[in-house]
Amino acid sequence: MKITAFNGSPRGKAGNTHIIVEEFLKGAEEAGAETENILLNKKKIRECIGCFDCWTKTPGECIIKDDMDELMEKFVSSDIVVMASPLYTDNVSGLMKIFMDRMIPIIEPYFVRDENGETRHKKRYEKYPKIAVISNCGFPEQSHFQVLKLFFRRVARNLHTEVIGEIYRGEGEILKNENPLIKPFIKKYLYFVKKAGEEIVKNGKISEEIQKKLERPIIPYRLYFSGANKSWKIEN
Ligand SMILES: Cc1cc2nc3c(=O)[nH]c(=O)nc-3n(C[C@H](O)[C@H](O)[C@H](O)COP(=O)(O)O)c2cc1C
Repeated sequence: MKITAFNGSPRGKAGNTHIIVEEFLKGAEEAGAETENILLNKKKIRECIGCFDCWTKTPGECIIKDDMDELMEKFVSSDIVVMASPLYTDNVSGLMKIFMDRMIPIIEPYFVRDENGETRHKKRYEKYPKIAVISNCGFPEQSHFQVLKLFFRRVARNLHTEVIGEIYRGEGEILKNENPLIKPFIKKYLYFVKKAGEEIVKNGKISEEIQKKLERPIIPYRLYFSGANKSWKIEN
């Protein structure tokens, strides 16, 4: 089984999303998957220019020559893709969105109806990878991911596939905290992330038990809230 993570954090390796992705992939690898972690901030990806040449003149191929050819190939040849992004203005980062827009060559232009009678585009490939979502945000509550949750369900529908796992982490800025009193709580959380990676490979989903543990705050909300406000006192 091949799992490819696409991380849309502009902070790349230095980001909180990366910490979660790495742990998830570790679990997946231990369960036998072949994994790859792609940092989109290291890739050259220009915005889609909306010419639709990838649907008309060069079917399946974008006329912009940058790193997207290679990335699209990796996307469609994976069994599972991990769409990983920090929450930016309640959605994916701009970098992730640009990457996603550039994926339109992987479907065909023709309209078809899905099982509910709603329109989508026709498949270009026989099979599309299943989607796992990883995100984190600066606010403490899990409620901030409601737009993202719906967004990825819609994306999966459009791509004739499904979301098989979601890891959303409020309090994301705690993940790099070095306080020895807090570190054990982060470690425990990341243990559950790794378990989720294992489960996705073994069972094709994250169990209810692990999902519940992943949704719990790492530290109490009020502590994170007051700690965040203290950290914003910029010294000059
Ligand atoms: C432009 C921008 C928009 C953001 N929007 C939100 C937001 O809507 N809600 C939120 O809780 N955090 C928001 N954040 C905070 C990030 O989600 C948070 O810093 C996260 O930990 C970054 O992940 P990363 O280190 O992987 O990039 C935003 C940050 C930036 C820079």
